Amino acid sequence: MKTIGRRMRFYRTIGAKLKGGEMAAILNISQGSYSDLEHDHAKPSSDTLIRYCTETDINIFWLLTGEGKMARPIGEVEKEKEENSEISIIWQNGMVVGNHQVDNDHKYLISLINTIQAAVNCGLGKEVILNYIAQLLSYTEVHFKREEEIQRSIKFNSLDEHKESHKRLLDQLISLRNEVGSAEPGEHQKAILEILFNDLTEWLFRHMLDEDLKMTEYFNLEKNHRVEDNSEE
Ligand SMILES: [Fe+2]
Repeated sequence: MKTIGRRMRFYRTIGAKLKGGEMAAILNISQGSYSDLEHDHAKPSSDTLIRYCTETDINIFWLLTGEGKMARPIGEVEKEKEENSEISIIWQNGMVVGNHQVDNDHKYLISLINTIQAAVNCGLGKEVILNYIAQLLSYTEVHFKREEEIQRSIKFNSLDEHKESHKRLLDQLISLRNEVGSAEPGEHQKAILEILFNDLTEWLFRHMLDEDLKMTEYFNLEKNHRVEDNSEE
């Protein structure tokens, strides 16, 4: 997770499981200001950082640098949770693109990443994890191809840009797979697997939230036209 904004979004969606407006209320700032922070259009003020400290369990060092754990251990329950790494991506309304096939594909990609994290938590070996990453890679190729066909059919104006982004995302996933594949047994491997979930989540969010949500207005327009056509009949 390379920026403060991305880590803020990661913490809100994965750690706190809150909507943007809810997190803005906790931080005592407007929803627009909060959105600017998540999109790295602004940096959090000292007041906002203090609210993070007093109102949430976020680890400020992690928020600012990306190093260490996302949350501070508060009490035994949270500690236990952290040790068990009970963390997974949950499907939320804010992820809906508005096309049944695309949304279902995204849900499946989420479930594959959650499975990889569960396998890491269970201490399964590198070969098993690599096998799951291969499944993720394979389905990502299927999904990207399907998405590009859909984009052609709706005359999506950023089709070429989107195709380039798909290529980059596939390359990134291949790099992650190679990184896991070349991890030496012991501490090196452990360290790579520990951050794998974060890396994969960031990778998926880059695709789903930064790129695919741009298609939402096309699907909404399509839906509205269908409603209008039906009402004229
Ligand atoms: Fe997608």
